[in-house]
Amino acid sequence: MASDRVLSGMRPTGALHLGHYHGALKNWVRLQAEHDCFFFVADWHALTTHYDSPEVIGQNVWEMVIDWLAAGIDPSRAVLFLQSRLPEHAELHLALSMCTPLGWLERVPTYKDQQEKLSDKDLTTYGFLGYPLLQAADILMYRAAWVPVGEDQVPHVELTREVARRFNHLFGREPGFEEKAAAAKKKLGGKRAQAYEDYRVAYQERGDAQALEGARSLVAGTQSLSDDDRARLLGWLEGGRRRILVEPQALLTETSKVPGLDGAKMSKSYGNAVAMREDPASVTKKLRQMPTDPARVRRTDPGNPDNCPVWQLHQVYSNDEVRAWANQGCRSAGIGCLDCKQPVIDAIVAEQKVFIERAQPYVEEPRRVRDIMDAGCERARAVARETMKDVKDAMGLGYV
Ligand code: TRP
Ligand code: SF4
Repeated sequence: MASDRVLSGMRPTGALHLGHYHGALKNWVRLQAEHDCFFFVADWHALTTHYDSPEVIGQNVWEMVIDWLAAGIDPSRAVLFLQSRLPEHAELHLALSMCTPLGWLERVPTYKDQQEKLSDKDLTTYGFLGYPLLQAADILMYRAAWVPVGEDQVPHVELTREVARRFNHLFGREPGFEEKAAAAKKKLGGKRAQAYEDYRVAYQERGDAQALEGARSLVAGTQSLSDDDRARLLGWLEGGRRRILVEPQALLTETSKVPGLDGAKMSKSYGNAVAMREDPASVTKKLRQMPTDPARVRRTDPGNPDNCPVWQLHQVYSNDEVRAWANQGCRSAGIGCLDCKQPVIDAIVAEQKVFIERAQPYVEEPRRVRDIMDAGCERARAVARETMKDVKDAMGLGYV
């Protein structure tokens, strides 16, 4: 049901690392069990910053999707698709651009931040300014209720809400709205119509958020309504407009607790990452070379786990018992750093073994990944078409 739909996207950055897994992907896997999930490759987004190196996009897309599957994303539960395969995204972006004030985009925090951070690139482009609006189009297209994102992306979801509100305000007007909404209410049937009315009054008079939720799920759960009537009843709750686009909410993803090999945030561009499907010999080597508490120069020097990035890995990968052993052994110089690292190495290698096994059929037969994406694109297209029809009708382009 659209009322609890989850949508999220990732730029195609190629092979993903443990930070991506413990940050975003593990969360996606959890969500797919409980929600109607749409996950997509944001390939147009890659071009907003990397328009000068388009050749890497293709290979990155497939590597990344294999990592999604390796993490346990299940294409029979979640819809997986590629943004650029659905021209509707570009179309909705254009439609929304008609009524989005320039100032809203200029004020998005990532706009100035990224321009400064990526100063080697010329990001004074129209596409870069507009990319949060493209993201809004991605989200609004599927009428998603929830958007799992990291903290840096929350302002984009906020912008999306404002864009949806403004769009509905401008284009959700309809002559005789109240009468049509009242007629739609009747179609709910006696008891449901009364419940809807009670919820509506409770929300409008007392701002009762639970009543709003109640009314929404009542409307969502009434199969017999036409799309127009549904939009009217949802719009009536919040004041006299059809709800053509749905305001989503950010589902804040906790930042990954996996540190990079140098203790800083794990990132491919810092060169401190461990890939999700790295071979065990390489993982072992990298971890054995990983710096530890700088005060532990000799084996006999006691250390302090609080000053050691390996200790952060123990937080993610070890149980209480192993942690107690490492903590005590470090502080008393009872164990060496290589001893301390071994259980972490074992746990990472064990986790990765599962990823590598899940990925194997797709690595051997890349066609399978393409088939999954083909099927996902078709499912996404069915939803995207419906939204675009409503949007174009509302904007006066419904005559064709
Ligand atoms: N902008 C996001 C990022 O850089 C990726 C993205 C694009 C996205 N469209 C989206 C995320 C829609 C969530 C929903 O990480
Ligand atoms: Fe870090 Fe473990 Fe070495 Fe202590 S013993 S400094 S926690 S690696």
